Amino acid sequence: MSIAPTDVLAERAMAAQSNVSLNFTDGTKTVTVPAGKTVLEAANDAGVRLVSQCTVGTCGTCVGRVTRGDVVMPEGRVYSIKQDEIESGERLLCQSHVFGDSEIDLDYPASMLDEYPVITTTAKVGVVTWIGDTAVELQLKLPKSVRFAFRAGQYVRMKVPGTDEWRSYSMASGERDRKKLTFIIRVLPTGAMSDYLRNHATVGDRIEIEGPTGRFGLSDDLGPALMIAGGTGLAPMLSMLENLQTARGEHPIRLVFGCSREADLFYLDELEARTEFMRTLDVRVVVDEPTAVAGVLEGNPVSALSVEDVDDPLTSAYLCGPPAMLKAAEERLLELGMPAERIHAEQFLPS
Ligand SMILES: Cc1cc2nc3c(=O)[nH]c(=O)nc-3n(C[C@H](O)[C@H](O)[C@H](O)COP(=O)(O)OP(=O)(O)OC[C@H]3O[C@@H](n4cnc5c(N)ncnc54)[C@H](O)[C@@H]3O)c2cc1C
Ligand code: FES
Repeated sequence: MSIAPTDVLAERAMAAQSNVSLNFTDGTKTVTVPAGKTVLEAANDAGVRLVSQCTVGTCGTCVGRVTRGDVVMPEGRVYSIKQDEIESGERLLCQSHVFGDSEIDLDYPASMLDEYPVITTTAKVGVVTWIGDTAVELQLKLPKSVRFAFRAGQYVRMKVPGTDEWRSYSMASGERDRKKLTFIIRVLPTGAMSDYLRNHATVGDRIEIEGPTGRFGLSDDLGPALMIAGGTGLAPMLSMLENLQTARGEHPIRLVFGCSREADLFYLDELEARTEFMRTLDVRVVVDEPTAVAGVLEGNPVSALSVEDVDDPLTSAYLCGPPAMLKAAEERLLELGMPAERIHAEQFLPS
């Protein structure tokens, strides 16, 4: 059973506590989950840290894959993972109850959370630059006294100035830039952060941030990298590229970057510059509509994929952008023969 009515869960909660082995990529930690507690609550109680954010089933950051046992989420709630993902063993650990000893795989190392602790601080806006018709580069400066470290691919939450709204944004800058963080933000026609950026953002503004969080990042395997970015999903790829530049040596890196409209494109010069100093980097830029922009092809990041992109069995794929693009890209990669465990993805859900 993967999803169950709450009364069934309550009845089954009479069962004794269960032991759950949490298989991180760098080792296993076992926690005891008492009846009535979620895996996340029990792990917190036991001092075992898991990636999580909302704790109510909507952000998707706490996902794990059940490989043994009976791990169940309550029925009748809206979850950020889909039915087919639940059927394939995925569970949101902030919602999951356990009935009998179980095993859950996590796709990040336990050491990540010790190495990159979550902090809350107030940053100052250093730069606000429009880098396209609908995208802004926001640079935040952190206080000198704050020790902030993150893994390329992670994100922070920001409190939109003048509101009580929090939004998530992935760092576009590299891990070594710990005092100045760069973000690339799509400015929507309306929206809390979009309105702030369009109408108010000024150098020197103060923005509360919390992070880093998230488990998206480079796998430890050395091998070719295939990065597929939709719109501002390019941000974490830029951060990860800095690591690839030093770590992957001769391995090919292919970055496919797509936007719906020509007007939404940004950073084309930046990408070209990167190919000049990263010999193994190949960048393919696509837009959904006919285009006359030099070097840009008509199409989308998924139609741009071919079997040659995945022919090396050691290739890892990194996907980031809107949910629909991610789903299509994942399906295409599986169709092209890429194993599911080599596909790593971050969805830019409304946050
Ligand atoms: C882990 C994570 C990382 C993210 N990183 C980035 C990033 O680096 N850059 C970035 O631009 N965004 C990123 N996002 C999305 C971002 O958090 C906000 O959801 C987005 O910027 C909209 O915020 P807003 O306040 O302007 O609009 P809101 O006030 O949230 O929404 C206004 C309207 O726009 C719709 N909407 C909200 N988000 C989107 C969207 N992404 N696309 C289309 N319509 C939307 C809403 O449904 C609503 O109708 C990330 C999201 C997550 C979960
Ligand atoms: S912490 Fe957000 S879905 Fe579990």
